[in-house]
Amino acid sequence: MYLEQEEIKAHLSAKPFRIVSEAADELGVEAYVIGGYVRDIFLNRPSKDIDIVCVGSGIELAKAVARKLGRHTHLSVFRNFGTAQVKSGELELEFVGARKESYNRDSRKPVVEDGTLEDDQNRRDFTINALALCLNKKRYGELVDPFGGLEDMETLTIRTPLDPDITFSDDPLRMMRAIRFASQLGFFIDPDTFDAIIRNKERISIISKERIVEELHKIVLSPKPSIGFELLDKSELLPLIFLELSALKGVETKEGIGHKDNFAHTLMVLDRLSRHTDHLWLRWSALFHDIAKPATKRWDKRLGWTFHNHNFIGERMIPGIFRRMKLPMNDKMKYVQKMVTLHMRPIALADEEVTDSAIRRLLFDAGDDIEDLMLLCEADITSKNPEKVRRFLRNFQLVRKKLAEIEEKDRVRNFQPPVTGEEIMDTFGLPPSQPVGVLKEAIKNAILDGVIPNEYEAARQFMMKKAEKMGLKPI
Ligand code: CTP
Repeated sequence: MYLEQEEIKAHLSAKPFRIVSEAADELGVEAYVIGGYVRDIFLNRPSKDIDIVCVGSGIELAKAVARKLGRHTHLSVFRNFGTAQVKSGELELEFVGARKESYNRDSRKPVVEDGTLEDDQNRRDFTINALALCLNKKRYGELVDPFGGLEDMETLTIRTPLDPDITFSDDPLRMMRAIRFASQLGFFIDPDTFDAIIRNKERISIISKERIVEELHKIVLSPKPSIGFELLDKSELLPLIFLELSALKGVETKEGIGHKDNFAHTLMVLDRLSRHTDHLWLRWSALFHDIAKPATKRWDKRLGWTFHNHNFIGERMIPGIFRRMKLPMNDKMKYVQKMVTLHMRPIALADEEVTDSAIRRLLFDAGDDIEDLMLLCEADITSKNPEKVRRFLRNFQLVRKKLAEIEEKDRVRNFQPPVTGEEIMDTFGLPPSQPVGVLKEAIKNAILDGVIPNEYEAARQFMMKKAEKMGLKPI
């Protein structure tokens, strides 16, 4: 983790940093790179957003930098916030004057005053995010680390620079940020910092749902997302932001028979899936796949614990949850609904004899998302019985092979009826009406069941025969 001065300088050798350095010296102000960019240098992570703090006017420094960078540079000034942004090629530099902030209890709107670098570092969220590198020529690359951020980086610790109750109360989103960084970076939250999250959890209510979801997305996309969700659970934030996920927790036992803890199972599925894909909405689908288990749980003397139709009920629960959490109510939601409804189909297939007809129907229902669905289903096999797991995985291979064969032969993945509704109406002189729908459905089923091939001529002949039976005559 420890970087030599020369290595730090190498990171700061890009043209924009040298220009900021020159401009700051000319204006006679101190300038520092601060926050995430510095943290990411030490973590060896790529980062494009550069925050520059200036002990003086950030806007004046930004203007001078934009002038020096010349053409192809874009300057935006946000006078109300005292900040300015300079865009040059790939890089985005955010300028702000060093400040001191104090917050009142019911709002995130701080009272802002000019301050020193130390004031500015004090008001930041975590020690690892409070590191600053000086850009003035005389001290170029000098690290200013008043809270032991470097040491915390080495011990993989998330810790607030000030008393955590103050840091979290100033901006309660930071409680989620702590958990998100732990999950994203594989860091540990310092116990005092963590206890303060538990104490301040209710304050999350003043944070907008949109900002909470941003953090949840980052947790979902982290290498092992269960770290984040387990911390959300332990910190008692989870029921406040995602009640249905938290409701999956726990095991009930009747007559000596317990069911599995669906929270632990869900996280295991999410982790297993995450080894194979970075698809955000597929990962969300894993979180939602058993969401209706608490609502559908029943004890049956003969069958033991059952969760009948939890996939269909889950699909129906999703719009309400998405609306409340301010997740997007669009095709992304429809995709998650589709994954949730279908999540048991490949398992059911793998369990039985794999018929062509069942495979065609699965291809038809999943369409282009079939590969995603298969990944989710494979991740869903979390049984502790190795023989059972082996059997399922073997059958899954068979299902995959069949899927490929049938798709090549019958092309039902993006099924378009070979005979259209228009043609049915024209052939029999029908207005848009029920018999048209019945004929269309019959043709589709005949193709999916393999009665006829997915071809125009065969479909047309089938339609004529079926219509005759229905008493329809061509005109
Ligand atoms: N910051 C903070 N409190 C917040 C948000 C941000 O103190 N609620 C400070 C931190 O010093 C942080 C910097 O502002 O490093 C920049 O914030 P941001 O760009 O949101 O996050 P990064 O730390 O850069 O991380 P990421 O880009 O992964 O969100």
